[in-house]
Amino acid sequence: RILILDFGSQYTQLIARAVREANVYCEIIPYSKPFEIDSNLKGIILSGSPFSVNDQNAPAISVKDLVKKLPVLGICYGAQLTAKTYGGRVEKSSKREYGRASMIVQNETDVLLKGISPKSQVWMSHGDSILELPEGFEVLATTESIPVAAFKCNEENPLYGLQFHPEVYHSTEGKQIIKNFLVNICGCSQDWTPAHFITDTVARLKEQIGNRKVIMALSGGVDSTVAATLIHKAIGDRLHGIFVDNGVLRKNEFQEVLDTYKQLGLNVKGIDASKLFYKELKGNPEPEAKRKIIGRLFIEVFQEEANKIEGIELLGQGTIYPDVIESVSVHGPSVTIKSHHNVGGLPEKMHLELVEPLRYLFKDEVRKVGRELGIPSNLIDRHPFPGPGLAIRILGEVTEEKVKLLQEADHIYINALKETGLYATVWQAGAILLPVKSVGVMGDERTYEYTVALRAVTSVDGMTADWAHLPYDFLADVSNAIINNVRGINRVVYDISSKPPATIEWE
Ligand code: XMP
Repeated sequence: RILILDFGSQYTQLIARAVREANVYCEIIPYSKPFEIDSNLKGIILSGSPFSVNDQNAPAISVKDLVKKLPVLGICYGAQLTAKTYGGRVEKSSKREYGRASMIVQNETDVLLKGISPKSQVWMSHGDSILELPEGFEVLATTESIPVAAFKCNEENPLYGLQFHPEVYHSTEGKQIIKNFLVNICGCSQDWTPAHFITDTVARLKEQIGNRKVIMALSGGVDSTVAATLIHKAIGDRLHGIFVDNGVLRKNEFQEVLDTYKQLGLNVKGIDASKLFYKELKGNPEPEAKRKIIGRLFIEVFQEEANKIEGIELLGQGTIYPDVIESVSVHGPSVTIKSHHNVGGLPEKMHLELVEPLRYLFKDEVRKVGRELGIPSNLIDRHPFPGPGLAIRILGEVTEEKVKLLQEADHIYINALKETGLYATVWQAGAILLPVKSVGVMGDERTYEYTVALRAVTSVDGMTADWAHLPYDFLADVSNAIINNVRGINRVVYDISSKPPATIEWE
């Protein structure tokens, strides 16, 4: 196990993912949080930070104490903090270095830069630079603009520093450098694999759950499906899955997802509550109100079903690591822009013990585990789909008729993406029904019908996103197909807004 101490860098999660990609387990904790050192802990990585080590309230830890116990790798701010701690000189450089730089290796025999090209592209993002290293420290690499791009020293344990960000994609050999640290310096055994995770997790679940029963809400999404499959592997049909049709799912989704669960051998009950949802959504055009209604009804329906099963003590959830990482806030509390996670109120209200088998996995790891478990690609490689479903893609009031219209248009669009192989190239896609009617002409008739907007984005985590540059011919075909086949829609537009300033969903 490796610990990453977070000083608030935007890249900290990327460090964790790079470590996990080398099949080594790691966790992120805020730099100020105490932690235990046991025989499983093999090394420490110090992250970057938006602070300067010379700021008065710069976050700090005692690097010297750490190095007495374990090998340490400092990245960017972490490297500067290390250099400064031992008496080096870190100052604002005359020019900020941001973006690609060429690292020139000065010591190719050291185990950290072993196998790295003599000149290697790295990603820089710093205002301060290490101008002088402390006594006893050795320069391992430079760039044209800075005298120290990588350094080492041998204290009680090896101590390394990198001024650049090896975790960022543009550091072309960065992953190898991280792997060198993990394997050559910390002696990690690289056995954190999906298969290992599954065996380990199933054993742990058996221990946690014993002979009790677990209830779980399934959504057809990747996380809840993988979590349920793991729990089912541990306790079989004592896992009771509930899948609610809230009336704002995609076309045929309810039946298709239930069929797949059946194939997987999961014990899942489908509840068609769509009429109830339509009834309560009536007359409520506000996005946040719609989210709240859907969230509340979902809990009510779920709870009613839970009450029918005797002796439920545990609640399964598909929580993943990015939801639980404690972040170091450098800009004060963040503002709620949209209230996501519509099932947020579930556990507290129900007083059930939580079972969260994916709590320490990133999304890409959840997918790898899902594949290893034999879950079909139509579930594993699905685009994300919001909990409030099509309700936040029908701007304004939601009615059953509008849902039907949007389901048809969305179905044509998503199928076309799949048929042309474009589905896998975008992060998320969907159609939005606008509250706008416009004039058209079909045959000799004048039409006055709705407009649908198509949305497709590329993204890594949904936090930022670019609109996808789908081919014009493809858009033309989809537009034709929708207008010719969906009565009630006579105009199709394509959304070319990125996030920020727009968001992915329109509401
Ligand atoms: P935005 O629209 O904020 O969306 O750019 C980012 C990602 O979050 C999804 N999303 C939601 N998911 N409940 C959810 O479970 C919600 O209320 C919700 N709103 C947005 C959105 O689909 C995208 O993947």
